[in-house]
Amino acid sequence: MNYRHVYHAGNFADLVKHAALLQLVARLTQGPPLTVIDTHAGRGLYDLASPEARKSGEAAAGVVRLMAAPDAPPVFGPLKAATLALNGKGEILRYPGSPWLIARSLRPGDSYLACELRPEEYEALRVALRDRPNARTAEGDGFALAVERCPSQGRVLLLIDPPFERPDDYDRIIATLAAARRRNPRAQALVWLPLKDLETFDAFLRDLEDAELGPAMVVEARIRPLSDPMKMNGCALVLVDGPDLTAAFSAISQWVAQSLGEAGQSRVYPLSSS
Ligand SMILES: C[S@@+](CC[C@H](N)C(=O)[O-])C[C@H]1O[C@@H](n2cnc3c(N)ncnc32)[C@H](O)[C@@H]1O
Repeated sequence: MNYRHVYHAGNFADLVKHAALLQLVARLTQGPPLTVIDTHAGRGLYDLASPEARKSGEAAAGVVRLMAAPDAPPVFGPLKAATLALNGKGEILRYPGSPWLIARSLRPGDSYLACELRPEEYEALRVALRDRPNARTAEGDGFALAVERCPSQGRVLLLIDPPFERPDDYDRIIATLAAARRRNPRAQALVWLPLKDLETFDAFLRDLEDAELGPAMVVEARIRPLSDPMKMNGCALVLVDGPDLTAAFSAISQWVAQSLGEAGQSRVYPLSSS
C-alpha cells in the first residue's frame, strides 16, 4: 500500500473535510466531554514545500486559492485561522492535518486518539502531537483500534478517512461504525469518501442505509462532472447521527464546487431511510 497524503494535503477535498470537521468539533465541544477517535490520522502536519506536494500541485489549487480568495464564506474562518497560525502572513508552506486541527480544538476535559498504520507517518504524527496533553496516538489498523478503544459511555466522534486503496475500505467503514455503535450507541461519525463514479458511491450509501446505523447527512462536492471514473471528480462526507449542520456544510461544499471546480456542483441531503 503506497498512499501518501502529502501529495494531496490542502487539496479541495481536504478543504471540504477540514472545514466541516472544525464546524462539527466546535459544535460538539459545547456539551459534555468529548472523545474523538481519528481512524486514519496521517502525519498531522504537511510540508507544502516538499517535492511531493509541489509535484502534485494540489495544494496550489486548493488551500493556496482559499487563502487568497476574497469571497470565501465565513464557515472557512476556523480553517483559515489554523492555516495562518502555521504560516503567518507569508507563503503557505505548511498545512494542518486532522490531528493538528482536532487537538487544537478540544478542551482540557476532552480526549483525542489518533491512529495511523504506516510507520513513518506514525512517527511524524507522534512528534506533531507530543505537546498536546489530551492527545494520544496508536500505531496500527485504525478500523480495529476504533472499535477496541471506543469508550462504552459518553460522547464519541469517529473520524473515518481511509485512503481507499483497498476495495474493502467501504465495507470496513460500515462494519466499524456498526461495531462502535453497538459498543456505544451514542457514537457519532464523520466519514470522508472520494467521488469517482456514482455507482460505487451509491452502493456505499445503500449499504449504509441497510445497516440502519441512525440518521445520516450526506455532503457532496463535485469539482467536475463524474464522466471519468479514474479521476477524483469530487468528494463526499457522511455525518452519522450528528447535529444539524446543513447550512454550514452547504456553504462549504458550494464554495469548493463553484470556486475550485469547473462546472462543479454541490448537494447536502439526508440519507432517505434514516
Ligand atoms: C487520507 S490519509 C489521512 C488524512 C488525515 N485524516 C487528515 O485529514 O489529515 C489516510 C491515512 O491512513 C493511513 N492508513 C492506511 N491504512 C490504514 C489503516 N488500516 N489504519 C490506519 N491508518 C491507515 C495512511 O498511511 C494515510 O496516512
